[in-house]
Amino acid sequence: MTDFHCHLLYGVDDGARTPQESMDMLQRAAQEGVTTLIATPHARRPDMDTRPVRDAFRELQPFAKDMGILLRLGFECNLSALQVQDLGSARRFCIEKTNVLLLEFPEDNWPGTWREILYDLQAEGMRLVLAHPERCRPIQRDARVLTTLTEMGVHLQVNVSSLRGYFGPRHALARRIARLGRIGAIGSDAHCTQDYEGFRGIARRLPASALNPAFL
Ligand SMILES: [Fe+2]
Repeated sequence: MTDFHCHLLYGVDDGARTPQESMDMLQRAAQEGVTTLIATPHARRPDMDTRPVRDAFRELQPFAKDMGILLRLGFECNLSALQVQDLGSARRFCIEKTNVLLLEFPEDNWPGTWREILYDLQAEGMRLVLAHPERCRPIQRDARVLTTLTEMGVHLQVNVSSLRGYFGPRHALARRIARLGRIGAIGSDAHCTQDYEGFRGIARRLPASALNPAFL
């Protein structure tokens, strides 16, 4: 199965801090049944220097392979990493060798132009995946936003941890997206090994289309 969202590259964001922590996370992911893992460090500035990311990625790739994991490089592209005048430049944050962009919207206070931003990114040839939509209050508050996203062809990446057995708006929305069959991809959003707790158990109840996204 594919973990579409993970902060396992060491030293580049608030995820793994050392190569050892990265390797522990890879091992844990393998134990949970992950066979493809997209490393998605935070991108929060358009001019982000991606060299440290690429270095950590290249170093870890052979270890991942040894553990039976295909490691791929992407980013979690925050709205703040987009250049309004040049949205096409966001292509540098797409998953390697694809035009698939994992996009992170704020949990609250979406810009009034959010639809235009999505349309414009699509017009630039990018296929969009929204990271953990269940965390976004504009979607929690108004079910029509979910419909709009689906109608626009935006894929939804739900965090497995949001599907765990507790209550609250985040959990409720993740469950609703699952019930509607609209989970396009799942992610651990793991920053450390403990974040993989229960991953396999929850993932195995989801449809194959969520575990191995066809759009990738
Ligand atoms: Fe994340």
